[in-house]
Amino acid sequence: MGVLRMGYVHARVTDLEKAKQHYGDTMGLYPVLVEDGTAYFKGWDEWDHHSVVLEEGGVGVAKFGFKVADPADIERFEDRATRFGCAVSRMSAGENREVSDGIRIVLPSEHVVELYHDMTVLGTEVGTHNPEVFPRHLVGIGAPRLDHALITAEDVNLMERFFREVLDFYPSERLATSLDADADCIATWLTVGNTVHDIAILKGPNAKLHHFAFELSSWSDILRAGDLMAMDDVPVDVGPTRHGITRGQTIYFFDPSGNRNEVFSGGYVAYPDRPCVTWTPDQLEKGVFYISREVNDRFTAALT
Ligand SMILES: [Fe+2]
Repeated sequence: MGVLRMGYVHARVTDLEKAKQHYGDTMGLYPVLVEDGTAYFKGWDEWDHHSVVLEEGGVGVAKFGFKVADPADIERFEDRATRFGCAVSRMSAGENREVSDGIRIVLPSEHVVELYHDMTVLGTEVGTHNPEVFPRHLVGIGAPRLDHALITAEDVNLMERFFREVLDFYPSERLATSLDADADCIATWLTVGNTVHDIAILKGPNAKLHHFAFELSSWSDILRAGDLMAMDDVPVDVGPTRHGITRGQTIYFFDPSGNRNEVFSGGYVAYPDRPCVTWTPDQLEKGVFYISREVNDRFTAALT
């Protein structure tokens, strides 16, 4: 089956206490564990031990974890990534807290991706037996789950090739210099399941993070999240508004360290034989922010 989803984002934060307030009290993620200057969180609708790891010291993303279906997938991807020209190393069980053995791949963009086949299961409050539709005592925004991330890379074409050829992702949408088949890719939105994107890549400096995003259920949940950001003095970048690309409804905002987050809802269902949507630069602003058709300078310049 291969890659199932993006299982975790391991981010760096400058102040762990402030980060715990943001991700725990405002975002409403469950604080699972704090150990050695590192905090672990999960959303209420996530079963595995954690989906967000926050390590004190710096900003940006240390690595992403992608969960695969079967231990045999690890060897297959190790071989493919090596042949693609990436540096690949083995990681042991427990090297990441509660995470199985696997491999660590340095992408052409210098981002680090870990593939693992198992993580300790904590379950959810609602469970699997006659479940309620959500836990009654959610905190703050009460984000159900981690959804996707946007990273920057100098060579977007190469990165798209990596995710397609090595990990079997497919692009749902692309921003290209023209409609020609060999046009240069400025950005690509890639998925491995049925969500509209698991990871997106935008032309820019290597090894940088633009944002990571949490799924919400509806436009009204997005607006309620905005209200809570106002209550908690969260710096909002853009929104609430809608994307043309993915059709998602969104707010972009910053954590206390300056890492950009997003709450996202309403993207369409993707599948591999759905034709890839292409956006061209003349409609860039409409693609990014459909209603205002404006992109502020900070949105492209602020990276961590
Ligand atoms: Fe996003």
